Amino acid sequence: MKTKILFAAAESAPFFKTGGLADVIGSLPEFLAESASPETGLDVEVKVILPFYRRLANFEKDCSVALEATLNFAGKDRTFRILSLRKQKVEYLFCDQPELFDRDAIYGPAGKDYPDNILRFGFFSYAVLRSMIGLNFQPDIVHCHDWHTGLLPVYLKEIFATDPFYRKMKSIMTIHNLGYQGLFPKDDWPALSLPDRLFNPEGLEFYGQINLLKAGLLWADRITTVSPTYSEEIKTEEFGQKLEGVLSKRAKDLIGILNGIDYQYWNPETDPLLKKNYGKDRLSGKSENKAELFRQFFLKPSDNPLLGVVSRLVPPKGFDLIMKTLPQILKQGFNLVILGSGLPEYEKFFESAAKKHQGVFGFRPGYNEELAHRIYGGADFFLMPSLFEPCGLGQMIALRYGAIPVVRETGGLADSVFNFDGAIGNGFSFVPAKAANLLDTLQKAGAVYRNKKVWARLVSNAFASDFSWSNSAQKYLALYRSVIKT
Ligand code: ADP
Ligand code: GLC
Repeated sequence: MKTKILFAAAESAPFFKTGGLADVIGSLPEFLAESASPETGLDVEVKVILPFYRRLANFEKDCSVALEATLNFAGKDRTFRILSLRKQKVEYLFCDQPELFDRDAIYGPAGKDYPDNILRFGFFSYAVLRSMIGLNFQPDIVHCHDWHTGLLPVYLKEIFATDPFYRKMKSIMTIHNLGYQGLFPKDDWPALSLPDRLFNPEGLEFYGQINLLKAGLLWADRITTVSPTYSEEIKTEEFGQKLEGVLSKRAKDLIGILNGIDYQYWNPETDPLLKKNYGKDRLSGKSENKAELFRQFFLKPSDNPLLGVVSRLVPPKGFDLIMKTLPQILKQGFNLVILGSGLPEYEKFFESAAKKHQGVFGFRPGYNEELAHRIYGGADFFLMPSLFEPCGLGQMIALRYGAIPVVRETGGLADSVFNFDGAIGNGFSFVPAKAANLLDTLQKAGAVYRNKKVWARLVSNAFASDFSWSNSAQKYLALYRSVIKT
């Protein structure tokens, strides 16, 4: 019999995406479903459930209606539908409740949050569980991702477990980023439909506020995060974001499993969004992509190494460091292109810097899937000096496209980028988040770029790196098996 797994999350590629969470939810389930494993002895059926952000969706016509229901939640009857869409081996389900989810953005406008996010994601978590009976799908494990689904393990154990349908159901909470915890004022408590006794320091209370991620960390049967290094870091004060105590207490139930990326989707040999396809043995195509990128960003044609950035524009990605060193980076002979969406003050800075450094630096604000692919395809280096990074997929995608990552050594970056020593290694990294360290590292990277023989070695190492899901999917299967046994 197949083990039934339900993924619950706020975003998934290709439907709705703001960052790496969507990449993971859009690819890991398929790999799990394909990896019936002799080693773990586990064969799984995976379904994924997401909110249906009606205004952002262009695929409703492809969906069928799997369920229509009404739930009383937070003192009000709320009618919703569950839509269904099959993508290869995995069924994607969408919770369609227009009052809560038919909005212009997933989380809120221009880097801000909708004030009723607690109600939106509280309702989602509750409705997900409640819908399973109507859908006739009884998961063995509900695999929750990030704070948006942190309430689900609580509802499961505190409210639903009295019903035999839910009694044996287990939950796993995966932390994709401890920097986002879902914090809300305590006055929002009635929005949760939970007993008052749970609002205390051993429960959802967190320095006077409600913390939805903490809920998931306390009530889930197991906790995972997206790289082994980050799983150690978050138990310390420096990276724990005030949850290090909770995480240390649950240390024996916490494991780090490195993310992978979808090697079919991210493939320079077949990627339809590139100007020209290429591979490790056909690198001339990469130069054509680079030339095209120069045109798109109005850069002066040159043989200089090109640094690319594709990122959410938020402080943890290390933008203060980039802003501080921009003139020197350009002076070192690099060209730089940045694609990013996020904080308006960062956008303003880079827009005016692009005017000042016309011809050698280019900036595009916003989320742009095609341009992202073209940057991975055309850049020589991929810059990602994150202050902390749970896993990071940008550097893995860059390696797949033969763009050499230059990163700060933290979290998943430390687990995937290894300093090049002239023979071994796939990129460049530095530790203290200081301007001088970034500039020194770039200096070394630039010198390697100019030595064509050594450079060829480095690029070939990058192409030889393997961050496909095959390894990690097996680790999730082993985890599922051990959770079911307990
Ligand atoms: P995070 O999830 O913290 O944003 P990751 O490196 O794990 O960081 O994943 C980022 C994902 O989002 C990658 O697939 C990257 O290509 C994509 N991405 C980030 N910003 C943009 C953007 N402005 N336009 C297009 N894709 C983006
Ligand atoms: C988060 C993290 C990123 C990670 C991604 C997918 O957004 O910031 O490091 O790669 O989730 O797990």
